[in-house]
Amino acid sequence: MTRLTRADLDALPAYVPGRNVADLARDLGIEEAIKLASNEVPYGPLPGVVEAVTEAARQMHRYPDMGVLALRDALAERFGVAAERVVTGCGSVALAEILVKATCLPGDEVLYSWRSFEAYPIIAAGAGATSVRVPSTPAHGHDLPAMAAAITDRTRLIFVCNPNNPTGTALHKPELDRFLAAVPSDVLVVLDEAYRELVTDPEVPDGLDTYGDRANVVVLRTMSKAWGLAGMRMGYLVAQPEVAAAIRKVLTPFSTSLVAQAAALAALRQEAEVVRRCALVTAERERVTEALRKLSFDVPDSQANFVWLPIGDRTASFASACETRGVIVRGFHPDGVRVTIGTPEENDAFLAAAEAALTV
Ligand SMILES: Cc1ncc(COP(=O)(O)O)c(C=O)c1O
Repeated sequence: MTRLTRADLDALPAYVPGRNVADLARDLGIEEAIKLASNEVPYGPLPGVVEAVTEAARQMHRYPDMGVLALRDALAERFGVAAERVVTGCGSVALAEILVKATCLPGDEVLYSWRSFEAYPIIAAGAGATSVRVPSTPAHGHDLPAMAAAITDRTRLIFVCNPNNPTGTALHKPELDRFLAAVPSDVLVVLDEAYRELVTDPEVPDGLDTYGDRANVVVLRTMSKAWGLAGMRMGYLVAQPEVAAAIRKVLTPFSTSLVAQAAALAALRQEAEVVRRCALVTAERERVTEALRKLSFDVPDSQANFVWLPIGDRTASFASACETRGVIVRGFHPDGVRVTIGTPEENDAFLAAAEAALTV
């Protein structure tokens, strides 16, 4: 058969979305299953967002503002940066893709810790770039000295995921300072801070406040998690003006939709509620971590809205044992299971499932 697509894509793992809740509930014959697999915050849309989206939808026959001016202005004001430094996109994952596209030619290297966000290898391969994965430390965090040592003259972009998905571990300022000082000035460092709003450890630096002015640093954020807009698809980045301008050249036109722009603008007016919700989630994170440790799981401290169970080759059996009890978690075979923090009731259901799964 004639080959129409790239042969190298055959070896690429597909991005695995969490299992569908409705399907699982139907298969189990239960009213509702619980999904703790996609790191969403469980409290629904923020106040006023549905109304703003409904209003914006009346204009859906028109293209959105391609310059995303109002939203970029709002983000720029919120973070105290010039609007020209802000780029928005269809989720931060699309912006990660664009960043690789803007920096790498085929054969160039994208460096990241592993295990980290599962989209990184897919994004690198999609651009024809070479992934260089540096194994995480025994404590499930980035091994920054090893990452610095892995930089070559082909390295064009480095993802630093802080806090790290899926392990929840976070880097402190001194180690990041040392790492950034070691990175050559012509290599772009992307601080992926998808879970920044959930960080409670004061030693974990805010990438934008601390490193935002460095010429080769881009800070990547999302409104999918704390801001409750996962289904709207809105991510943003802050870069130096020249970097932002180059990124805009390869951005898919109109990729921040009309409704995503309206939703994000309305959500940004609800920061106090975001802070309140994040506090609920982080309190539950500590409770779930303690409970899992009592059950004998070796759970690293998490600074995100999920916890990591490094259970190795028990990953698949544990995840499916949870599913048979109506709780969807995310297994990353053969390393471990990531469990999103949900409402207290959802977390209790997971803890009961985890206890039962121990005996499987
Ligand atoms: C570390 C990290 N970066 C980026 C993303 C992408 O988020 P989104 O595309 O929804 O903005 C995720 C989502 O899970 C993530 O965990």
